[in-house]
Order: sequence, then structure tokens, then C-alpha cells
Amino acid sequence: MAILEVKNVTKVYEGRLSYRALSDITMTIDEGEFVGIMGPSGSGKTTFLNMVSTIDSPTSGIVLIGGKNPHKLKKHELALFRRRELGFVFQNFNLLDTLTIRENIVLPLTLDGVNVKEMEEKVTVVAQKLGISEILDRRTYEISGGQAQRTAMARAVIHAPKLLLADEPTGNLDSKASRDVLETMQQINQVSGTTMLMVTHDPLAASYCDRVIFIKDGKLYNEIHRGENRQAFFQNIIDVLSLLGGNAYDLSTVGV
Ligand SMILES: Nc1ncnc2c1ncn2[C@@H]1O[C@H](COP(=O)(O)OP(=O)(O)O)[C@@H](O)[C@H]1O
Ligand SMILES: [Mg+2]
Repeated sequence: MAILEVKNVTKVYEGRLSYRALSDITMTIDEGEFVGIMGPSGSGKTTFLNMVSTIDSPTSGIVLIGGKNPHKLKKHELALFRRRELGFVFQNFNLLDTLTIRENIVLPLTLDGVNVKEMEEKVTVVAQKLGISEILDRRTYEISGGQAQRTAMARAVIHAPKLLLADEPTGNLDSKASRDVLETMQQINQVSGTTMLMVTHDPLAASYCDRVIFIKDGKLYNEIHRGENRQAFFQNIIDVLSLLGGNAYDLSTVGV
């Protein structure tokens, strides 16, 4: 079943000079898939993610999530839809420093009026899955970057969203913490079946996906599937990036 359907989406930023950031994008993401989006900077990755996360609306075309068009919802319904159906993970973690790790994780449930007992049960389960049970009573300044991103991931999945959206989730992590977070994402995808869409410029991060979609100048350029071997997939990703040109692939960054 399709969780995300994007049909002929075009985004034009209006201004003194209008700019077409996305051109006629059509794609489908099925339930349980882990999909990566790559492309040179300025190719429209963030614009695309903003169309899906409903932060911004397409100029034309349709976005359906679980068969529903969130862009047609009223403001209040849209807020609920985002809180219940979507999960977000960002490059800079977006945790609240005044709260404990536990309080950060349950925040979406608090906003939704879930009772304390149910919250406690959920936080125990999700913390176990993410390997952060030991740090629940700490504050954000008492944990590592990798732990912070796993906390953000816990917060993003505690309400079992239909779709998890991640924008450069490893962008602020060293390579060990990146692998850690990616392995955790992969595990959540496989064990809980959470559908994931991740924007990344990092070929290592992308190699954890089932499928990587490349965009160039706001258009779909190519798409490749992972198969059995992550190392081989990693090499394929690098090959496509070097064909893509631009600054899509910085040779200085890597190692499998
Ligand atoms: N709010 C905006 N207004 C005008 N142009 C924008 C806006 N946001 C992005 N752009 C332009 O759209 C293009 C795609 O941007 P973006 O989606 O951020 O690319 P990426 O995330 O791939 O680096 C860029 O040329 C950028 O300058
Ligand atoms: Mg971007």
C-alpha cells in the first residue's frame, strides 16, 4: 500500500524573479519502505520535504499521505494531522534543554492529552528500542550527539507515525555516531515497519536506505535500489552522484 503519493508536484517560489524549485515530481513510497533523497545543494531536496511535511504547499500537483491530502485540511486539522500521522527528525535534534530526555520524548503525547500511565508504558518501550533507557532522567547537556539524535528519533516515533521524515539526521554527528543512528533507523524501519523518508547528502547514510531517489534542478534524475549488499549500494550511490555533478558528492567525506 502507498503511504506517500506525490503527483505532478511543481513548486514555484514567487518573487521579483520567480523560481521553479520543483518540476512535475511524481513518486510513490510504499508502507514500510526506507527511502533516501539525494541531489546537489539547491536541487530542491528541502523544498520537496517541505511539500510532504506540509510546511509549505505545492504550486500545482497533489500530495497524499495515507490517502489523505493534508494540504486540503484546515489549520487546526493540519496541526493534528502533523502531530499524529507524521514524525520529524532534524539535523540539529531540536530537543528542549529545559526538559529531561524522558520529557522530551513524551512531548507529542503530552500535547495530545494522553494519560500518564500510557505515556510511561510507551516511553519505556521506545527507549528500549532505541537503547536510551539508561539516560531518560538526564538533561540534554548530559548526553552525546548520537544519544541526542536517538532521543529525537524516540520522540518522532513514540506515536507510531505513518511516515517519519528526516532532514540530514546525521549532519551534525561524527562517523561513529552517524552509523549508530543509521543502524537504529534501519532497525526501527525493519522491526516496527515505520515508513521513512530521509534527505541526505551523505552517501553512507543513503546506503542504509532501501531505495535512493536523486533529484537535479528540481526534476527526478534517477533512482536506485539497494539489494543485498550495502557496500555495493554505497558504491552505486557514489557513481550516480559523480554523474550528477554539481557539489552532490564531495570526495573528501567518505569511507564505508
Ligand atoms: N523560500 C524561497 N524563496 C525563493 N527561492 C527559494 C526558497 N527556498 C528555496 N529556494 C530556492 O529553490 C532552490 C531549491 O532549494 P532547496 O529546496 O533548499 O534545495 P536543497 O535542499 O536541495 O539544497 C534553490 O535554488 C533555492 O535558492
Ligand atoms: Mg536543503
